[in-house]
Amino acid sequence: MKPFAIYFGITQLCNMRCPMCITRGHKAGAPKMELTRREIRNTILKPCKDLGMVSIAISGGEPLIVRHTAATLSDAVKLGYSVYLATNLLKFDTGMMKKIFRILDDEKHCIQVSFDSIETAQMNAIRGKDVFFDVVNHCMELVSLREKLNVKTPLVGSAILQPNNVDSIIKTIDYVINELKFDKILVQQRHDYPVINIDNYKEQAAISTNRYDTAMNEKLVSASLEIAELTKKDPRVELAKGEVKDWVALYNNPTDIKKRCEADNMIFIDSYWNIRGCLFGEVLGNVKPGGIAEFLESKKYTDFLKLCAVCNICTHGCS
Ligand SMILES: C[S@@+](CC[C@H](N)C(=O)[O-])C[C@H]1O[C@@H](n2cnc3c(N)ncnc32)[C@H](O)[C@@H]1O
Ligand code: SF4
Ligand code: SF4
Repeated sequence: MKPFAIYFGITQLCNMRCPMCITRGHKAGAPKMELTRREIRNTILKPCKDLGMVSIAISGGEPLIVRHTAATLSDAVKLGYSVYLATNLLKFDTGMMKKIFRILDDEKHCIQVSFDSIETAQMNAIRGKDVFFDVVNHCMELVSLREKLNVKTPLVGSAILQPNNVDSIIKTIDYVINELKFDKILVQQRHDYPVINIDNYKEQAAISTNRYDTAMNEKLVSASLEIAELTKKDPRVELAKGEVKDWVALYNNPTDIKKRCEADNMIFIDSYWNIRGCLFGEVLGNVKPGGIAEFLESKKYTDFLKLCAVCNICTHGCS
C-alpha cells in the first residue's frame, strides 16, 4: 500500500525540554533550519497530494513557535488535506489561534495538545520545564475560544504514559475530558528506541524489555489495564494504538506485539528536508534532489518496507 499520510516536523526546535522527546534535532543541538511556506507547499504538500496522500500531521518540535505554521495549515486545507496539528500549547497567541481555528473549522481536522499529568511536579518533570500553569491556562483559553468562535475543530488531549505520571494518569484523563472539556484524550506509551534498522530492531526490543524494574513494570501494566477499562466505558478515552495486550507486550517483550506496524501508511519529513519511514527509523532520503515520488521508488524506501513488514516493536500512534 502507498502511504496516505505525512508526518511533518515543521521545526525541530522547541520551547520545552522533554527528556523523553522523540524529535532528535533540538536534542542534538542541531542548527535552526525551517523550510519556507513556499518550499513546504511546492516540495511537500503539492507533490504528496498528487501521489494520493490525504492527511497531514503538523508536528515538531513545537509548531506554534514557527511564524508560517498558520499559513501552512491553510495551504494544506486548501489542497484538501485533513490536518492534525500537534502542539504543547506553551505558546498561546490569541490572534494566531483564532486564525488556526478558522482554518481548521471542520470535524475532519484536529488540534492535539500534550497534557501528561494533572500533578504540577509530574508534568514539569515530563516536560523538562516549569510549564504546568501556563499549559493549563492555555488549554482553558483554547476551549473557550473555540466556543466563542463556534468552530467545529475537535480538541484532543494527549498523554504519554511513563513512570513519572503512572500514579496520576487516571486522574489526568478525567481532568482533560471532564474539567478542561477536551473532546477526547489519547493515551500513548512512552517509547525509547534509538535509530532502528533491520540489523538492530530485535536487539532494541530486548533492551526495551529491561527499561524499568519489575515493580515499575507492574505499575505500568496495571495502569494500562485500568485505562483500557476506561476506554470501554467512555468513548472519549482512546488507547493509541491497538489493544491493551500489545501495551503489556511493550513492557514485557515488544516482539510479542501483534499489531502490524503501520508506518508504511505515512512518510516522516522534518524541517531539514530529511525523509524517514518511521519515527524511529534512519534518514532514508531527502525531499530536495529527487522529490518524494522518486523517494518512494528508491531502494532505501523499498528496504524500509521490508523492515516494516517484520518489525513490530511499537504501539506508537504515529506508526
Ligand atoms: C514530538 S511531539 C511534537 C508536538 C509538540 N511539541 C508536543 O509535544 O505535543 C509529538 C508527540 O510525541 C509525543 N512524544 C514525545 N516523546 C515521546 C516518546 N518518547 N514516546 C511516545 N511519545 C512521545 C509527544 O508527547 C507529543 O504527543
Ligand atoms: S514539547 Fe514536544 S517536541 Fe518539544 S521536547 Fe516535548 S515532546 Fe519534544
Ligand atoms: S514497529 Fe514500525 S514504527 Fe516501530 S520501529 Fe519498527 S518499523 Fe518503526
